[in-house]
Amino acid sequence: MKLPGFNKKKKNGQYLVSLDIGTEYAKALIGQVANHTDASGKQYQVVEILGVGRQRQRLTDMAGGSVTDIAGVVENCDAALRRAEETAQVVAKDAVLGIAGELVKGGTTSVSYRRAKPDVKIDQAELTDIIERIQKQAFEDVKKQLNWETGKSELEVKLVNAAVVDVHIDGYRVTNPVGFQGKDVTIQIFNAFAPMVHLGALQTVAADLDLNLINIAAEPFAVAKSVGADDSTEFSAIFIDIGGGTSDIAVVNNGGVEGTQMFAIGGRSFTKRISSSLGVNFDQAEEMKLDHSAGHLKADDEKAVADALKTDVETWLSGVELGLSEFENIEHLPNRILLCGGGSALPEIKHALSNTTWYKSLPFTRKPTIDFLQPSQVNRVIDKTGKLTSPQDITPMGLANLGLDIIGSQSIGENVLQRLSRTLSL
Ligand SMILES: Nc1ncnc2c1ncn2[C@@H]1O[C@H](COP(=O)(O)OP(=O)(O)OP(=O)(O)O)[C@@H](O)[C@H]1O
Ligand SMILES: [Mg+2]
Repeated sequence: MKLPGFNKKKKNGQYLVSLDIGTEYAKALIGQVANHTDASGKQYQVVEILGVGRQRQRLTDMAGGSVTDIAGVVENCDAALRRAEETAQVVAKDAVLGIAGELVKGGTTSVSYRRAKPDVKIDQAELTDIIERIQKQAFEDVKKQLNWETGKSELEVKLVNAAVVDVHIDGYRVTNPVGFQGKDVTIQIFNAFAPMVHLGALQTVAADLDLNLINIAAEPFAVAKSVGADDSTEFSAIFIDIGGGTSDIAVVNNGGVEGTQMFAIGGRSFTKRISSSLGVNFDQAEEMKLDHSAGHLKADDEKAVADALKTDVETWLSGVELGLSEFENIEHLPNRILLCGGGSALPEIKHALSNTTWYKSLPFTRKPTIDFLQPSQVNRVIDKTGKLTSPQDITPMGLANLGLDIIGSQSIGENVLQRLSRTLSL
């Protein structure tokens, strides 16, 4: 890799790269790990973002959130990284990469068991054993589902993220079961799996960029884990990341990530529709779409664009409805929807979610509120560049937040559940 023209001597301190390889943009952040103190005097780690870079991808580089041309993607990531390095004035190696797309599957598996000796305290070995059993079960389920969806019986999948959603002992909710006695234990764990072929592509990209890959994270999981009070068991929300190629949904219920769903409609679908309906090329259609969002189109163009988008927005909304209908094992869906990703800036998106009765067929207790996620809402990630200003920046920031867990995992005082809720190793 060619190095930028600044003094690249390694500086003191710990740095982190977050690389979000999106269908439309490769986005890179470089941050420095720092210690902050909260109002009660408690110390915690944050990532201070010092450099930001973004590079548009070609139409052939990615499809539906997955890499289709490794060399092309490496070039774009390199450009994005270089820009981030130039502003940060530092070269960082430890990187977190995001993975998204329809074949990334995330869901919760619950296991209940009766302990033969209720008066014996639960220890680490017992917990590890039960978690392994849950993951084996989840792995088989996901494999079956993917084989069915893709028609390929040999599709290899791998675990990318895991987190404890809920633990109950004899009906009581606990945050860490180790040390407790009791008879009936129920543990719920969220697992995200991805096909090996996509993970392998990301590993190659990281290696070609000379990065030290510390983690690959499922993007909707990263976003959902990054917003809301850190230890809150109260926080519930539906996250929707509308990118260029896909829309990713994550449901957080009572502080735990319940599951993720993705479908292959994003900003690019809308641009393509404008292009075919109005007979303009992709770039012109993209420009018209952005002007439409900004309210800058002439009246007749505005009408043509709005008409062209109508059906596709309805289809997108059906995708959301269908995705949410998959969350069969939660009683009620959270009444709060948080939007991010560049595609969420299309006014029709918020309008469709707010002004139609789509939610009525789903288990909401009332009409959900619709808001955009802002960069300041991402926990423990602090922008020092002033460049992270829109909901499009949330995903790379969420990856940086997860990266902090990996880097900070050696720090003292981490309990077993914190360790578990951190992303698992590659
Ligand atoms: N103001 C806007 N109005 C409408 N669409 C917009 C606006 N700004 C960005 N977009 C769209 O957002 C999309 C890019 O968003 P984003 O950067 O989140 O995608 P990505 O992460 O590259 O893709 P994915 O997550 O699907 O892999 C593009 O389709 C772009 O046209
Ligand atoms: Mg994205």
